Amino acid sequence: MPVTSTTICFRNIRLLAQIESVAPVVVAKKENCALVVRDGKVVKTVKDSGIRAGQYDSVVDLKGRAVIPGFVDCHTHLVYGGDRKEEAEKRATGESYLEILKQGGGIHNTVEATRKSGEEELYQTARARMKRMIQLGTTAFEIKSGYGLDLETEKKMLRVGQSLRDKLKVPVNLTYLGAHAVPKGWEREEYLDWVIENLPAFRGLADAVDIFCEQDVFSVKDLRRLFLRAKLLGFHLRAHVEELSHQGGCYEAAKLGALSCDHLEHALPKDIRAMQLSGSVAVLLPGVTFFLGGEKIAPAHSFIDAGVPLALATDCNPGSSPTYNMQTILYLAAFLYRLSPDQALAAGTLGAARALERHKEFGGLLPGQRADFNVLKTDDYRDLFYYFGDNFVDKTYLAGEMIR
Ligand code: NIG
Ligand code: FE
Repeated sequence: MPVTSTTICFRNIRLLAQIESVAPVVVAKKENCALVVRDGKVVKTVKDSGIRAGQYDSVVDLKGRAVIPGFVDCHTHLVYGGDRKEEAEKRATGESYLEILKQGGGIHNTVEATRKSGEEELYQTARARMKRMIQLGTTAFEIKSGYGLDLETEKKMLRVGQSLRDKLKVPVNLTYLGAHAVPKGWEREEYLDWVIENLPAFRGLADAVDIFCEQDVFSVKDLRRLFLRAKLLGFHLRAHVEELSHQGGCYEAAKLGALSCDHLEHALPKDIRAMQLSGSVAVLLPGVTFFLGGEKIAPAHSFIDAGVPLALATDCNPGSSPTYNMQTILYLAAFLYRLSPDQALAAGTLGAARALERHKEFGGLLPGQRADFNVLKTDDYRDLFYYFGDNFVDKTYLAGEMIR
């Protein structure tokens, strides 16, 4: 059977940014060019002036705008029931995130609401969130469970993630976060034993296992026990570490070969050294620093100087970062960590794809990668890092097809 192939030329691009590498950051900037896409993948870029009529199956005029890769949101908790607006109000009067959690609020409130939500209801709310994220320029996602803390609800959350992937046809990586909090009525060790024993039930549903390693939540020893087992079962490892205090989870996670260490506000030089040796990606989540009013800023430049790949993500969740917008995250990162536009853009695209181990497939808008990209409302992507609070994404393409 003959295989039909379609070649599209996206022409009249004023400025195209391709992310060639993340550690070190290399962004190729091409002016007045066109992007040639065959069967959903980038083939090459050509000079706009050299395009001849009839050379391609179709030509799309991008009207002198800037084009950047689609954003990759490599850390989200976007499947959940209810919201936590009341808790945000409490924090405004001085109660801390961990105090609220310790008193049985915080994550526990979302667990209760998520257990009560039917699968269809969870799917519909998560779908609306994901659609909004796509409208804001995100073309690939990671989604964690962690608001069930029981077999039935954790599986329900992951099935919702699978349905989103299948029905919205966007890349989604799923992570099992059974060790997100100790559910009410359980002792910590007893619950962790349960999580470890039941890991095999999540094979095929999630490709990675995650843990919230924090004071009064799970310890470094817990992380080690969980990860040793998860690794044997073939899961990738990710960890919420050094977020609100320094516990040592990053060092341990890196030593065990974690694909990513996330948060890292309190990371120390020896943690960064361990990540450098292990090749783990540092996933920074500036939305949390902003929303929880954290004083500790993740040492982004120390990671860069050590050659540790940097990624950025929303951490979209109802308690510590209720945002859908990667543009806001990139802006906050540039501002809080003093990143250049190129460093922030690379972290929110190819760096985040690397945290998912999918950087060969997408993230840089490079030849051979899928043509996932945003056409901006402007001809200079640095506007994203200058005018704050706006939405600069005009059109979003996934595998060369417009999805908004
Ligand atoms: O990434 N740190 C722990 N987990 C989430 C927040 C979850 C929640 O508060 O609902 C985070 O910040
Ligand atoms: Fe998180």
